[in-house]
Amino acid sequence: MKILGISCFYHDSAATIIIDNEIVAAVQEERFTREKHTPEFPSNAIKFCLEESGLKIEELDSVVFYDKPIVKFERLLSTFYQVAPKGLIPFIKSIPIWLKEKLFLRKLIYDNLKEIEPSLKKKDLNLLFTEHHISHAASAFYPSNFKESAILTIDGVGEWCTASICKGEDKDIQILKELHFPHSVGLLYSAFTYYLGFRVNSGEYKLMGLAPYGIEDLEETKLFIEKIKSEVVDIKEDGSIFLNQKYFKYTYGLKMIKENSFKSLFGFHTRKEEEEISQTHCNMALAIQMVTEEIVIKMVREAKKLTNSNNLCLSGGVALNCVANGKIEELGIFDNIYIQPASGDAGGSLGAALSINHMYFDSERHYSEEYDLMKGSYLGPYFSNKEIIITNKKYKANYEYVESFEELSETVARLISEGNVIGWFQGRSEFGPRALGNRSILADPRNPEMKKNLI
Ligand SMILES: [Fe+2]
Repeated sequence: MKILGISCFYHDSAATIIIDNEIVAAVQEERFTREKHTPEFPSNAIKFCLEESGLKIEELDSVVFYDKPIVKFERLLSTFYQVAPKGLIPFIKSIPIWLKEKLFLRKLIYDNLKEIEPSLKKKDLNLLFTEHHISHAASAFYPSNFKESAILTIDGVGEWCTASICKGEDKDIQILKELHFPHSVGLLYSAFTYYLGFRVNSGEYKLMGLAPYGIEDLEETKLFIEKIKSEVVDIKEDGSIFLNQKYFKYTYGLKMIKENSFKSLFGFHTRKEEEEISQTHCNMALAIQMVTEEIVIKMVREAKKLTNSNNLCLSGGVALNCVANGKIEELGIFDNIYIQPASGDAGGSLGAALSINHMYFDSERHYSEEYDLMKGSYLGPYFSNKEIIITNKKYKANYEYVESFEELSETVARLISEGNVIGWFQGRSEFGPRALGNRSILADPRNPEMKKNLI
């Protein structure tokens, strides 16, 4: 089976190509256009996937989109109906985009693919759609090598679902439990990301990075946690949550939160992006991080209870919260944990392709103890030494060619110890937001000034 998976039009556009169970290539569009988290149709990423596989679009068994836009539109209409007349302006603004693009996605995708391959005929395009959270679940379960596993997906929102517990068994994934919009761990975290002055859908990692600067024992931190749990989010024993809409605007507004309600509850206004970060901001970051961990751990316990599996797969944007992932590991209730490195929506392109491969086309799974089906997540473009040398010459770069890897490592280690910052580039680029050693910035963590140099 030759399948192209696509995720786009919201954020983190990407494409993945699989051939007979092998993930041949996967890459985000931002790596070509340099626009971080771009929602644009991933034409460059698709071109790369086709080149890498040596295939034309008409030769593919299927092209799969990572969610179901009609169901998403139903959520938009239903939410508007519940909150009307509030939200009329954003609703009116979004409707033309939906009518012009998202509802006619089949045509839009075909038109974009035809630009890549002008000879493409409609009859040669087998376009399929998967559910958003099935895409997330599949992106973790199928590459995991587990024959059976509990699967937990948590993100902002897909169609209706914001978190799911599934059971994966060989080729099949069964949904056991779902949490639905507007109650969402991802949106809760994004709301506090906004409150603390970072960008929603991209600054969440900054909030996570700020949390360790908070002081757990301070009265202020304890009070923040207590207020979040008593006023903002009701956490049930099974990890499901109820978000008090008195504090949120995302169901009808262009902003995440009701800023005045947040201010009167926590005593400080929404931080502006350029505003200095205070200890109070750090304490709040720690508070929401701890509440998030509490919810995620309850969900993990529920996943164990429902599946009784020793294996756990994690995916969805919240699975990029590596601090929470560490807490899950410390729990020790699963022997093996697999986390999809591209857990955000980019990974949806991979999961969409894999889910259609196994659940629709019924392809057998290939298990391997010897190699990683994700290939270490090194699935993107690469450049040969020859290409690098030609480019260096073209731009008259001052460079030195070192043949031996040992000598190169020693030189780089010395340069780092002397306080230099190194851009480390080798092999294929990583799929997902994490630098895993092929496109990394290396610096000396012992130097307290280094953080400033890196910014
Ligand atoms: Fe998602």
